Amino acid sequence: MHVRPDPVSTADTGHANLGVVPTADWADHAAGLLSDRLAAKPDLVVCLPTGSTPVPLYARLSELDPAVGSATVVLLDEYLGLPAGHPARCDSMLGGALVDRLSRPPRFVTFAVDSADPEAACRRYDADIAVLGGLDLVVLGLGANGHVGMNEPGSLPDSPTRVVELAASTREAAAGYGADPVPTHGVTLGMAGILAAREIWLLATGIGKAAILRETLDGPVTGDVPATFLRGHPGLRVIVDEAATAELG
Ligand code: PGA
Repeated sequence: MHVRPDPVSTADTGHANLGVVPTADWADHAAGLLSDRLAAKPDLVVCLPTGSTPVPLYARLSELDPAVGSATVVLLDEYLGLPAGHPARCDSMLGGALVDRLSRPPRFVTFAVDSADPEAACRRYDADIAVLGGLDLVVLGLGANGHVGMNEPGSLPDSPTRVVELAASTREAAAGYGADPVPTHGVTLGMAGILAAREIWLLATGIGKAAILRETLDGPVTGDVPATFLRGHPGLRVIVDEAATAELG
């Protein structure tokens, strides 16, 4: 049986929805939480990110290989300009890290950027989510510039699913995944769609996220740091390792 490490008490941090886990236990903890959610709701509709933060979580979850029942995984965002099957595509990355590694893969909703123009792909994506009855859970990696999904600085709480221009740091990350040519644009679940989910889990790990985690939790709510909009959501849970909390008061 899987024994999940308990997060340390959050009482010291003054953030009721913050779970702080020793770095060595973070992936185990987060994978256990997600596995529990899948067990509790076999038809869970969960939107999942790519990026480096969830990689160890997905590795652990793949090992646990939970029964996914009739769950649906929805891809959070996608680059534009990369061909289908490119390893740096978000659909390829999430497929390879998790979806395709499960013994009974869940339904996987992605952006139809190969068969439709990008705006039409966004509308189709929103329609797919609506047919599923909306998102039960959105899992997000906290971007170093405060973005969530590809909702870059300048996004607003009502920003829809849309085509976005990628920030310089997001392009650099794409280049780091081997994206060639480096994408300049992407499509993303909008802030409005994120905030419409019943539950939101925000992930951050490592000292490199300490400053932006402080801004996200304690700074002014602003479009300069789109992740700050999450603070108004009643179902927000912040799941971080100890290193990421280095700058919290
Ligand atoms: P990371 O990025 O998980 O690669 O750190 C998160 C993000 O930028 O969305």
